[in-house]
Amino acid sequence: MTALTSLEADRAAALAAVEAAGRVDEAFLGRFDEQFPRLHGLFAHLYGDRPDGQEQLAETVASASTAWNARPLELKVRDAQRVADPDWFQSQRMLGGVCYVDRYAGNLEGVRDQIPYFRELGLTYLHLMPLFDAPAGDNDGGYAVSSYRRVNPSLGTMDQLAGLATDLRTAGISLVVDVIFNHTSNEHEWARKAVARDPEFEDFYLIFDDRETPDAFEQTTREIFPDDHRGSFVQLDDGRWIWSTFYHYQWDLNYANPAVFRAMAGEMLFLANQGVDVFRMDAVAFIWKRLGTACESLPEAHLLLQAFNAVIALGAPGIVFKSEAIVHPDEVVTYISPDECRLSYNPLQMALTWEALATRDGRLLQDALEHRHALPAGTAWVNYVRSHDDIGWTFADEDAAALGIDAFAHRQFLNRFYTGRHDGSFARGVAFQENPATGDARVTGTTASLAGVEAGDPAGEDRIMLAHGLALSTGGIPLLYLGDEVAQLNDYSYADDPDRCGDTRWVHRGNRPRDRYAERTDADTVAGRVFRRLTKLIAVRQQTPELAGNALVGFETPHASVVAFQRPAPETTVLVLANVGDAEVGIDPLTLSGFASEAVDLVEGIEVDLREGIALPAHGFVWLRVTPR
Ligand code: GLC
Repeated sequence: MTALTSLEADRAAALAAVEAAGRVDEAFLGRFDEQFPRLHGLFAHLYGDRPDGQEQLAETVASASTAWNARPLELKVRDAQRVADPDWFQSQRMLGGVCYVDRYAGNLEGVRDQIPYFRELGLTYLHLMPLFDAPAGDNDGGYAVSSYRRVNPSLGTMDQLAGLATDLRTAGISLVVDVIFNHTSNEHEWARKAVARDPEFEDFYLIFDDRETPDAFEQTTREIFPDDHRGSFVQLDDGRWIWSTFYHYQWDLNYANPAVFRAMAGEMLFLANQGVDVFRMDAVAFIWKRLGTACESLPEAHLLLQAFNAVIALGAPGIVFKSEAIVHPDEVVTYISPDECRLSYNPLQMALTWEALATRDGRLLQDALEHRHALPAGTAWVNYVRSHDDIGWTFADEDAAALGIDAFAHRQFLNRFYTGRHDGSFARGVAFQENPATGDARVTGTTASLAGVEAGDPAGEDRIMLAHGLALSTGGIPLLYLGDEVAQLNDYSYADDPDRCGDTRWVHRGNRPRDRYAERTDADTVAGRVFRRLTKLIAVRQQTPELAGNALVGFETPHASVVAFQRPAPETTVLVLANVGDAEVGIDPLTLSGFASEAVDLVEGIEVDLREGIALPAHGFVWLRVTPR
């Protein structure tokens, strides 16, 4: 075993490992010169005191070289295109969709059959929820992975996944899959060996003989799934305790061990060569632990992501990382940079859209757009109305306080509102992971059910449109939860399924609603109206270059219920005005006087005269092309 020594010696060791592993490719060598010093610096921080630091680094680099040699030519062509145009995902033509393979299409072949529909919708990005081998029965919707190299047999095979990736690429759709690298399932080979006390694999996880260390950690860690188990550890059959942030069958990997980094990098390189375009980096905040801290978003979590990014830049340079950090907004942004994750969910905009719909007050959302939307060049938000997960009220307490809002009480109100426990609520949601100790809870439900369609609220469809109108206009990649475009409702049958009844998120993960899809061309149905209006918005967005990228400037109106911002381009600007209130609002000519009077209502496709002001109906919004004076 050799520890890291100097950049030069470690570089020589890495090159020797690359040579020993097979052919040394010129293009790879060029990237090696660029990336190695960076990777080495990161390893020095993370693994400087480990006896096997040099060896693990060299082996990691060698596996990147091997993966590159095996990388299919068409993927190398794709890499070259993406490296030459690193802002490819900033286009206003980007539109994401997300679905479970089994629930939406049965299996991978079924997904392939949906490609014509995806094209009809305008998708350019498809996130297939975890599709790897996982324990039978309850497996957190696939987030408990038993092998990253095997597709869950009920969904298909790895060859089918690679074939699907090719077909999607031909259709102009990038494939996104989860890299669930914080934990494995308890059935993963590494986990089985760790339980069997194989010394190599015991150190892959965080296992303790007694409660002393777990108790010490739990002084400062947060409970993520308190319905499942309290604290951050679960007990093994032999009495030992193992770190388990999420479900008891999901065991956190020990990234303080460089062998874990090397092993996971190998899994990523393997997946990259199946034709995946974007890695959704799951649960990034949790990957490094240190006693006395919350064990979330520690500096080393960033170093690890950067190191994985450098490895992928060596072996599969076209791939982009997307961060899944559903944490405090100050922390969410720390994961977003060209050398870490270029893409990130925008949980703040998502949660505040729902907050605004409940309160009929747009100020928190307006404030977030003005102060928390900007991102570094070369990066973008993924903006969504809802996901497969719950809605957590992740806004910053201090942002709420600045508007005179008590954050704790407000979250309690929002939970009551969205679970239908508040008089007059239009929402039909269900509580998720209510924690009696902290009073904390989150909310589940489909967009249509949360927006009022299920409750028969006449404004339900307009709220669906308003929420999507925001997600489609604030920039980055808008991401549709497939089914929402036909106003899919909650599915309560999960409560009768023993594998699912313990997790209320299944209420919004129903099967593809065939009946609603069948109605999508019928304007007399909810599905038909929502589908028509939404596809129109998507088409308008595609034609509106101002909506590309992430630049956004707030726009002041005197109305608390109006969320307003500009998407500036060199000549023109798109002004978005959205009314979350229950009453019509008139935007007066003076407020609009900074723009030339001729403007275009992009959605209606008509010219408007700003000297007449703009009437925004309840839950209405406009996208106006205006020219600053
Ligand atoms: C992410 C997933 C969530 C899952 C968790 C554990 O937050 O989005 O569905 O439960 O990670 O893997």
